[in-house]
Amino acid sequence: MSDKVWIFDTTLRDGEQSPGYSMNLPEKLQMAEMLDGMGVDIIEAGFPAASAGDFESVQKVAELAKNATVAGLCRAVQKDIDAVIEATKPAKKKRIHTFISTSPLHMKHKLQMEPEKVLEMIKDSVSYARKACDDVEWSAEDATRTEHDFLCKAVETAIKAGASTVNIPDTVGYTIPEEYFALIKMLKDRVPNIDKAVISTHCHNDLGLAVANSLAGVAAGARQIECTINGIGERAGNASMEEVVMAFRTRQDKLPYETGIETTKIMSASNLLSAITGFAVQPNKAVVGANAFAHESGIHQDGMLKHANTYEIMTPESVGRDKTDLVLGKHSGRNAFRSKLMQLQVHLDDDALNEAFARFKTLADRKKKITDDDLLAVARAEGDLPEEHIRFVSLAVRSGSTGPQEAELEIDLDGKKKKAKAAGKGPVDACFKAMKALVPHDDLTLHNYELRALTEGSDAKGEVNIALSAHGHTYHGAGVDTDVIVASCRAYIDALNKYLAVHNVQAA
Ligand code: KIV
Ligand code: ZN
Repeated sequence: MSDKVWIFDTTLRDGEQSPGYSMNLPEKLQMAEMLDGMGVDIIEAGFPAASAGDFESVQKVAELAKNATVAGLCRAVQKDIDAVIEATKPAKKKRIHTFISTSPLHMKHKLQMEPEKVLEMIKDSVSYARKACDDVEWSAEDATRTEHDFLCKAVETAIKAGASTVNIPDTVGYTIPEEYFALIKMLKDRVPNIDKAVISTHCHNDLGLAVANSLAGVAAGARQIECTINGIGERAGNASMEEVVMAFRTRQDKLPYETGIETTKIMSASNLLSAITGFAVQPNKAVVGANAFAHESGIHQDGMLKHANTYEIMTPESVGRDKTDLVLGKHSGRNAFRSKLMQLQVHLDDDALNEAFARFKTLADRKKKITDDDLLAVARAEGDLPEEHIRFVSLAVRSGSTGPQEAELEIDLDGKKKKAKAAGKGPVDACFKAMKALVPHDDLTLHNYELRALTEGSDAKGEVNIALSAHGHTYHGAGVDTDVIVASCRAYIDALNKYLAVHNVQAA
């Protein structure tokens, strides 16, 4: 049987207080709903005494949470504690989280208090909070730089006053796993009433060790981890929830702990936070980064095609992502190349494949990112290729400032000439409407249109690049002509042909 570790999420408090990550009320509520739905045990919703806005958001999260305990943070003063009591009132389950610094550095310079005064404040604040709420967490800010004797005394005082969780923050991200393990173990061994409280970790990531330190804390006896989605938080952030949870799930042999997190919701939570804050995670971010399940090297791709366990320790589906992505690039091998072409409905015999693969390698040396369109172009010279259903024949447009703008487009559709006329908001729009009349494709939307001159002068050739998208896929098209409207039409036809080829759709 695995031991339960409580997940205390502080995305909306420690996460939100970092530069650039502030969220408005509707955004916080969206995030809170996600956290509640994915099985977070405790949501730290904010610091109610900090501002009226923070107070309101804690209150609204308290109204919304169906399963999670809602916590509010407060300093060790009655006014702050009262704000948490009031803001968390609507919650089914509530927690008061009060903290004070315990390190010599913080006591002397920040609090300007003697250690005895700090102990007195711990006793007074925790017992005051405990009168209003039977779930009180106490945190020793800067615990990892606190003298051990004093930390033991402070923790003992907090538990005696009624704290049911004692949090041992590595506030400045200074500790290392071995040392943090020893610190938690020391508290377990030396604090006489430690069995009456849950020990919690709260590790910052200044040295990139927040997750490792949190896991070390659990190994030494902590049973709550404070963490955030995408690891956001003060400075370098907090321990990342997705990494902690997936470490437990993936390494049950060494980490026999379980959490209540529904791991298939991890990717949605990460994406929601990125969308709200406007900060995407770095591509190589563990678990949720764009490359976390992407394989480019030929040896890895070959291994993955033979057996996914060769290079993957967890499945993308287990964290709510799409299937593994074999990204083709200069390091890719023939096997992955063939497999990707087959996904695109291109089947080449061995000789054709070899030639196409050679062309692909030349292209990959020049281009960082190889798209599906590039692959189709590389394959085009050889083999059983998707047909081009549509060919451009002619175009006549009526444009200018007096309107209406109209286009008459003629195409060759699977060997038959077809013509259509349409009006639009400008000649390009009129052309695209005529195209739609000839080959209906309502599921495709135009999401990019770029025009540039390839040469200089008023008789320059214009190149148009467009992107059509449907069902999460994008089809790029390019067209070149001295008439930019004709170039637009050619680009549109190019993209539409790619869509029809990949989807094996009958154009007629
Ligand atoms: O990092 C820290 O010490 C904190 C406490 C207030 C829990 O965020
Ligand atoms: Zn913190």
